[in-house]
Amino acid sequence: MEEVKQRIDALRKNIEDWNYQYYVLAQPTISDFDFDGQLKELEKLEAGHPEYYDPHSPTQRVGNDINRNFVQVEHLYPMLSLSNTYSEGEITDFYNRVKKALNEDFEIVCELKYDGTSISLLYENGALQRAITRGDGTRGDDVTANIRTIKSIPLRLHGDNYPPLFEIRGEILLPWKAFNQLNEERAETGEALFANPRNAAAGSLKTLNPQMVAQRKLDSYLYYLLGDNLPCDGHYENLEAARTWGFKISDAMRKCRTLEEVFAFINYWNTERKNLPVATDGIVLKVNSIKQQLNLGWTAKSPRWAIAYKFQAESAETRLNSVDFQVGRTGTITPVANLEPVLLSGTIVKRASLHNADIIESLDLHIGDLCYVEKGGEIIPKITGVNKEARFMMGPKVKFIKKCPACKTALVREPDEAAWYCPNAAGCEPQIKGMIEHFVSRKAMNINAGEETVETFYTAGLIKNVADLYELKMEDIFRLERWGEKSAVNFIESIQLSKQIPYDRVLYALGIHFVGETVAKRLAKAFPSMDELMRATAEQLIAVEEIGERIAGSVRTYFANENNRELIERLRLHGLQLSLGEEVLAGRTDVLQGKTFVISGVFTEHSRDEYKELIEKNGGKNTGSVSAKTDFILAGENMGPAKLEKGEKLGIQIISEREFLEMILKP
Ligand code: IVH
Repeated sequence: MEEVKQRIDALRKNIEDWNYQYYVLAQPTISDFDFDGQLKELEKLEAGHPEYYDPHSPTQRVGNDINRNFVQVEHLYPMLSLSNTYSEGEITDFYNRVKKALNEDFEIVCELKYDGTSISLLYENGALQRAITRGDGTRGDDVTANIRTIKSIPLRLHGDNYPPLFEIRGEILLPWKAFNQLNEERAETGEALFANPRNAAAGSLKTLNPQMVAQRKLDSYLYYLLGDNLPCDGHYENLEAARTWGFKISDAMRKCRTLEEVFAFINYWNTERKNLPVATDGIVLKVNSIKQQLNLGWTAKSPRWAIAYKFQAESAETRLNSVDFQVGRTGTITPVANLEPVLLSGTIVKRASLHNADIIESLDLHIGDLCYVEKGGEIIPKITGVNKEARFMMGPKVKFIKKCPACKTALVREPDEAAWYCPNAAGCEPQIKGMIEHFVSRKAMNINAGEETVETFYTAGLIKNVADLYELKMEDIFRLERWGEKSAVNFIESIQLSKQIPYDRVLYALGIHFVGETVAKRLAKAFPSMDELMRATAEQLIAVEEIGERIAGSVRTYFANENNRELIERLRLHGLQLSLGEEVLAGRTDVLQGKTFVISGVFTEHSRDEYKELIEKNGGKNTGSVSAKTDFILAGENMGPAKLEKGEKLGIQIISEREFLEMILKP
């Protein structure tokens, strides 16, 4: 028994060390494969010995399934904010105020102001006890279960020179790359996009299912220690100590002795911040000595010993010409402002997002208004205000529409959602065309047709839904302008070929709200035929890993609709794959389990997509870019030189298509 406990302890320690090396130091020391093996061993031992359960074990980072609302908890020390300024003059004023009040030497610590969502972490005897959001500053939400999933946050501290009880505050961030990926996935499933990484991070922390949070690739930077027994008087030195306990502390942290040094830091990061993997919106200046901090004290709202200098969001002023309301394939209405073209941080901006009805209302926007357009952390420029003084003749007020601009159906809005929808999915032209475009797209049914073809066929009255595609005849197509025999044959051929597309992709192709590629794969695996999926109850759907109430509700609504069921019956008659075929099931193996591949170049024996499928069918994982986590690069002709160089540098095995096929065909 003692032996088991020792093994469990050793595994827990090693796994946390590897997590630290990977997520905090960005220097992995073990392959993914070996890491997974050790984690699995620990999971197995823990499952067999519940008496050794420990909430701080690295296995608990994945979170459990319990859906609960957050509990509100009082902060030990109120979470105040910082006074903000955009002016260098006010930084000088702050410096001089501190100098005068202290009347002795002092140091200023300059740090980056990370643009995420703030968090307070409580550690007791070296273990993470509680994580609370800012809330109203006095009470916040207990999000401990979600915070545990963030790998750069230590569950247990390193070493032993930390205080028995202390609080550490910092920022939870979603790096740009993960943010862009998340928005791409949301666009694919027809979900509203996050406007910036800050909203995405805050939204993720408030997600009720920790397993979903674990998928989000959140990161952290910690910047403020509080407690009675901190190791040093210096804030900077305390953070350096916290770094040795395993926290992620920014390297962009300087102690400055003069105002010139402070401005040098500000000027350097004003441009250099654009190269950082996470969003920042300014610099924070803090008096280093805690004794001096106490001398300077606090106002009701913020400390007198610190100030935030905010970077200017790049903005411009331009006229609003009109507002369009676009209908997405899932019926969401997006308001877009058409602007007089204006130069903003190097690009000409002609259109800007207006997000939703509430934002339009709060801006009190009129056609012809001079508007402020900003490009801050956001990907799409947005209108942040109106220059009301410049109004001389006011145009009509911009009102959010009540009816669909395409089909005139009354719009609806779900409680708690900002977006309005057109509910007429089966009769609304942009939705129908959008659905067909999605159905034929490469990742779905891979039919040889783009937006233009869909438009032509639709306008010619040949297709009104995706099932009509399978009833198109050569002579129908032939009669169309610009369609020759060859293109018509190609097109019909690709329609025929699409009948081989596996069930999970057919499911994705249907364009059910919130059912993207990954969700479709999960559902297909859990319900290996469309009939089973159609019969599934909400409870059965939610029982599937990562399927929550929202997706389950959307799937149920889709199949409850008579039109959709009829459509599926027609697709069935045309011979589409509505179940995981025997041969598909048989073709699945585990030989590539735990292995991550990057595919690059051109192949002769199979297409790239086929290789991707082969990797997944055999238990492996595809990723787009080469990293220390990559096990193999499957290289074809003309492989990208950057990938090759990176792969070689990291010592990753580069294999040919022959070698790959041998790998999966080996008995
Ligand atoms: S110090 C009492 N340092 O900015 C001082 N804050 O309004 C506590 N922030 O709520 C904050 N980076 O969410 C501090 N290096 C940094 C920061 C930082 C970002 C955020 C934090 C805070 C807000 C200030």
